[in-house]
Amino acid sequence: MKILALNGPNLNLLGRREPDLYGRTTLDGIMRQVKARARKRGVKVEAFQSNEEGALVTRIGKSAGKFDGMIFNPAAYTHTSVALRDALLAAKVPCVEVHLSNIHAREEFRHKSLTAAACIGQICGFGGQSYLLALEAIVDFLERRTDETKTCR
Ligand code: DQA
Repeated sequence: MKILALNGPNLNLLGRREPDLYGRTTLDGIMRQVKARARKRGVKVEAFQSNEEGALVTRIGKSAGKFDGMIFNPAAYTHTSVALRDALLAAKVPCVEVHLSNIHAREEFRHKSLTAAACIGQICGFGGQSYLLALEAIVDFLERRTDETKTCR
């Protein structure tokens, strides 16, 4: 089983970006933890981060047939990107949306996720642990997936 761990804009700054909100662990540190957890479950994870919407769209487009599932923190694009939502719907690779912070408890403009409806679910509010929970969720989903639930919605 192969999982793509996608991260959007400014997440490359984790560790020094608003640490009270996002914690002090770097994205590399979080990805290392995700890969270690994945190994325990016999799963491979490939990580990709970009600050550019188009690069993320392209990466999602190329994921069909290559990855069984995705965990994705679209960061600020969560709240703005029709292009990412459409890319997820087109790729049909099951995806769990991840956020470090609880976007529903923050500014109103963060309450709306355009991408979540193209995902099987969303995990937010647990800091770096959100990624580990998302990994467990996507692997559990893929392991018990039946023919009836093969789409990403
Ligand atoms: C975030 C939440 C977004 O609203 C914000 O723009 C981010 C990070 C999170 O992980 O909590 O960049 O996706």
